[in-house]
Amino acid sequence: MLLIANWKQNFSWNEAEEWLQELSPRLKEKKELEIVICPPFPFLPLLSQWRNREKLNISLGAQDISPFPDGAHTGEVGWRQLSSWAQWVIIGHSERRQLGENNEIITAKIKQALQGGLKIVLCLRSKEDWPALDWSLEKIKNRLFLAFEPEEAIGSGKPASLESVNKFKEQIASTPVRDFPVLYGGSINARTVTEFIKLSSLKGFLVGSASWKAKEFKALIDVLS
Ligand code: PGA
Repeated sequence: MLLIANWKQNFSWNEAEEWLQELSPRLKEKKELEIVICPPFPFLPLLSQWRNREKLNISLGAQDISPFPDGAHTGEVGWRQLSSWAQWVIIGHSERRQLGENNEIITAKIKQALQGGLKIVLCLRSKEDWPALDWSLEKIKNRLFLAFEPEEAIGSGKPASLESVNKFKEQIASTPVRDFPVLYGGSINARTVTEFIKLSSLKGFLVGSASWKAKEFKALIDVLS
């Protein structure tokens, strides 16, 4: 089971350290649950140092990646800047799609992430969001994870229904991506996750707000461990 924490645009440096201080004992434990923390870019080295020093049982991810190779792209952060710190990257989050990110950009980002050897969490609001990739999916089987994230469930406190998750699985069953692991994201916390655990087809969860407070994230880890 995979638990991916998306910090989004939250935390100061001190708050990130406080969170780590509080969570470290729990994150040191050897668990079957694989935990990936995706902080804002500048905190990746901080989390990486903590991880090495405290021997935390976590991986790190970026919340986005540049669609371009190195060059004159002000404000962009590419795989060559990320790959020393991150093993994962989130691509195509609906909060980025709302800003105009389309499937052409998303495909370019996937290509860059694969070049950097990163594992990808590709967020899909529905099956229609799947970008038509023009390369062999076989090659990326262990590198690509699909996160079903209906827009209305994100940050609303109201997760999607189990039926909608099943429907998503059914919809992709007839497409080339049917064998990729599926995660669910949208208003998951220690309370709401209990329903979703029943779905054996889910490989894990992508959580936003429930990862921002150490206590809430701890509670979620407890339920999933
Ligand atoms: P939420 O965010 O858990 O706060 O709903 C989920 C996400 O954006 O991935």
